[in-house]
Amino acid sequence: MSRVYVFDHPLIQHKLTFIRDKNTGTKEFRELVDEVATLMGYEITRDMPLEETTIETPVATCKSNVIAGKKVGLVPILRAGLGMVDGLLKLIPAAKVGHVGLYRDPETLQPVEYYVKLPSDVAERELIVIDPMLATGGSAVAAIAALKKRGARNLKLMCLIAAPEGIKMVQDEHPDVDIYVAAIDEYLNDHGYIVPGLGDAGDRLYGTK
Ligand code: URA
Repeated sequence: MSRVYVFDHPLIQHKLTFIRDKNTGTKEFRELVDEVATLMGYEITRDMPLEETTIETPVATCKSNVIAGKKVGLVPILRAGLGMVDGLLKLIPAAKVGHVGLYRDPETLQPVEYYVKLPSDVAERELIVIDPMLATGGSAVAAIAALKKRGARNLKLMCLIAAPEGIKMVQDEHPDVDIYVAAIDEYLNDHGYIVPGLGDAGDRLYGTK
C-alpha cells in the first residue's frame, strides 16, 4: 500500500486558501500555484540521498554533502499539471520534463492517451507525476500506467488537492506510488468536482471557461 503525505506547512496552507478562493483572479492563482509547487518540492525532495564530497573553501579543505543517486524527471499531466512545473524546476533545475496528455473517451468514459513524450532514460529517473487535482483518480492511474509501460519504475504522484476516491483508486492500482498532497478534501460531487476544492484547475490557471 502506498503512503499519502499531506504537506501541512503553514505557508502551503495559507497560499492554498487563496488558491481555493473563487475571487482570486487568473494571474494571482497562477502565481500562487507556482509558489506552492516550489514549497511542495522542498518537502517532496526530503528523502533525496546525499553523498559526501571534498571541497576547498577559501579557508580549509572540508567534506560536504551533495545530492546523490537518481536523476529526477517531472511529468505533468496536460494541461493543469503544467501550472506546477516551473515551481518545481526552481528547486530541481536539472530535471527533465516529460508530458502526458489524456482525454476521456465519451463512450467508455475511460482516459485515452493522446500525447506521451518522455526523457529517453525514463527507467533511470525518479519521476514526479504532477496533477493539481486528484479527483476520481482515472487520469493519474492512466498516466502512471503509461509511464510504467515505457519503463518507468520509480514514481511519485504530486497533487494540490485530492479526493478520498482518487487516493483509493491510485493506491489500489499503483500500490508502489506514494502520493503527496497539500490537502485531502471531502468528496467528489456529481459533476466530478472535488468539494470544496478550487473549481477547474486548468480553467483557473489559463483563464478559460
Ligand atoms: N479537475 C479539476 O480541475 N477540478 C476538480 O475539482 C476535479 C477535477
